Amino acid sequence: MKIKVLLVAIAWTGFMQASVYASGDPANGQTLAMQGDGSGAPCAACHGPQGEGMAAATFPRIAGLDADYALRQMIAFQQGQRVNAAMTMNIDNFDEQQLADLAAYFATLPVPAPAAATASEEQLALGKKLALEGDWDNYLPPCSSCHGPNNQGVDGTFPGIAGQHASYLKQQLELWQQGQRTSDPVQLMEAIAKRLSPEQIEAVAAYLASQPAVAKQ
Ligand code: HEC
Ligand code: HEC
Repeated sequence: MKIKVLLVAIAWTGFMQASVYASGDPANGQTLAMQGDGSGAPCAACHGPQGEGMAAATFPRIAGLDADYALRQMIAFQQGQRVNAAMTMNIDNFDEQQLADLAAYFATLPVPAPAAATASEEQLALGKKLALEGDWDNYLPPCSSCHGPNNQGVDGTFPGIAGQHASYLKQQLELWQQGQRTSDPVQLMEAIAKRLSPEQIEAVAAYLASQPAVAKQ
């Protein structure tokens, strides 16, 4: 259990000095979401009319995401700690206040019910174990030790990951394994992802995607 305590301690000290962002205006965010940043596509073109995302294209659900988390991630795309040309191109003309407004708007949208799981019972059972109990033999704490009870998220630092598309969850874990996502200030997720096998990634992504999420503000 020492490792768990240590990881959580590292997590909290790393984030104590998290910056305070401007709070957003959801009404203006809705207008900006429909207009886009002038590069051509409104958010809905990829994230769906209600922010529900598109599983087949690994476009994440952004409805109900914690506003501080969504803002921090959009800044990470602008600054290059997350790299995705299509996403960055469509937000790079927004300033921080506009991004805060967008984040505030999507945080208010209801989270759709999760899609029916297509994974096998065995996969879902393995995924549930990783998500809620961990795999201590491989130094893996449960996802919920950072992502909160039932992985619903804690705040702008530790996001909800339940009810996100499996394709996107899998892709993000692989990006961390490859060292391509550096938005996590103290690289907690890189350490976690590098200890997961491909089978464990499939399983935990399938399980989390099958779990309902609640909207955060
Ligand atoms: C052309 C497609 C496209 C458009 C348009 C687009 N996005 Fe994205 N967005 C993506 C993709 C793809 C990702 C995931 C990229 C990755 O991590 O590689 C993403 C990721 C995000 C994330 C991070 C989600 C998370 O869980 O970490 C947020 C927040 C977001 N987009 C908000 C927006 C907003 C707000 C708009 C409109 C102003 C927008 N996006 C427009 C494709 C798009
Ligand atoms: C030690 C703490 C910790 C543990 C344990 C942990 N995470 Fe995370 N996770 C984080 C942090 C911090 C972030 C935010 C990263 C950032 O700011 O980009 C995150 C983000 C994520 C994201 C990106 C979400 C998004 O919408 O962008 C995914 C996916 C994820 N974690 C999956 C998992 C899975 C699956 C597990 C369990 C196998 C897990 N995490 C365990 C700390 C943790």
